Amino acid sequence: MPSAIVTGATGILGREIVFELGRNPEQWPTVHALSRSKKEDYPSNIIHNHIDLTSSAEEMAKDLKNVKGEYVFFAAYLQKDSEKENREVNGAMLDNFLNALNFTGALSSVKRIILVTGAKQYGVHLGAPKNPMCESDPWLIGSHRPPNFYYRQQDILHNFCARHSISWVVTYPNDVIGFAEGNFMNLGTALGLYAAVTKELGAELVFPGSERFYVGFDSFTCSKLHARFCLWAALEPRAAGQAFNVVNGDVQSWQTLWPKLAHRFGLAVKKDQFAEAPGEEAAVMELAEKPPVADMAAELGLVGSRMVYQGKVEQRVDLMKWSQREDVKKAWEKLAEREGLNKDALSKATWAFLGFVLGRNYDLVVNMSKARKLGWTGYVDSWDALSEVFDDLQDAKVLPKTE
Ligand SMILES: NC(=O)c1ccc[n+]([C@@H]2O[C@H](COP(=O)([O-])OP(=O)(O)OC[C@H]3O[C@@H](n4cnc5c(N)ncnc54)[C@H](OP(=O)(O)O)[C@@H]3O)[C@@H](O)[C@H]2O)c1
Repeated sequence: MPSAIVTGATGILGREIVFELGRNPEQWPTVHALSRSKKEDYPSNIIHNHIDLTSSAEEMAKDLKNVKGEYVFFAAYLQKDSEKENREVNGAMLDNFLNALNFTGALSSVKRIILVTGAKQYGVHLGAPKNPMCESDPWLIGSHRPPNFYYRQQDILHNFCARHSISWVVTYPNDVIGFAEGNFMNLGTALGLYAAVTKELGAELVFPGSERFYVGFDSFTCSKLHARFCLWAALEPRAAGQAFNVVNGDVQSWQTLWPKLAHRFGLAVKKDQFAEAPGEEAAVMELAEKPPVADMAAELGLVGSRMVYQGKVEQRVDLMKWSQREDVKKAWEKLAEREGLNKDALSKATWAFLGFVLGRNYDLVVNMSKARKLGWTGYVDSWDALSEVFDDLQDAKVLPKTE
């Protein structure tokens, strides 16, 4: 029977890996869930252990004394202010953790390490990637590109696994739809709060992001689907030594999702929401001068093309400022009081993150062919995933009940 170790056990992606392993105790009798905090109760086959991944390998080895597993899922992440710091800190966390497993002797039982990264692999935070994004696309390296912590983590993983004859898998999820207890850093929470407060204000639902992206395309990752993928990739022999995109399998657009969101919260979409030029509430942020696709322009025959343009994040409503407006705060307080909701939810939601997700002026289409060719058949409708997260957020008293 396989055993497992999961880091980032309380995170939006790691938590679902823990629960997916928890659903099947006969197949996975022993699972070690690791994080600094413990936020909820686990199924009987899950043992939670405290760990601080920012400590040295020697220190970590003390916390890992009784931790063993054949499959290691690394889904921890510590957000830092700059890409340079992200690279240093998140690289060191993985490196020290792997060395700690070596110190304790647990490494001798490890068969495969699954590292969770993301679509920043393709520079989706810098501007338009080449679409659809494929795992074989070249890494964005060179002096014109900022450091990317996923590249460092993957280099660490590849070298470590080669040295110790262990197999590995890397996942690239994008724009994760999920739920994590007490963690407001996800697009579903902020989106639900935006709709709930709009309803309380008696207003129509206005898309706060970019008009271009409203009719453009995105590929989302349901955290539950990603967890199922991780277990599949851990046990599939042909997945060894491979990186995989992991998205839901539908390509979505906000022109489809926005009316569904409005309907769920009993709202109407403002019919002419893009008719007027953006007003005082708008904000624009320019991204990298050259979008990621520019690095492949010669190969793709796109040198000099107007389609290779500098990316922007265009918010018709700057969500950070919106969340701090007096009328918004008052409406939330009233709603939270009346419905018995978590009052901190509005101030702790990640408005800048949602603003980024909705404001980009380029498409994000992620290709799933590589995994499908190896037999992966997982699929989730992105609206269903979002709707399920709203259900979870209602149960957790973050969002009000809707009819
Ligand atoms: N969220 C998204 O939309 C998204 C999209 C694509 C890719 N990704 C990538 O997916 C990966 C996982 O991110 P996530 O969004 O799931 O992260 P998350 O929700 O912020 O969770 C981070 C996890 O790491 C743990 N952690 C942080 N610092 C730690 C430390 N010093 N010691 C031990 N554990 C620590 C946290 O637990 P404690 O705080 O309890 O220690 C938590 O369980 C990252 O590489 C991220 O870039 C995320």
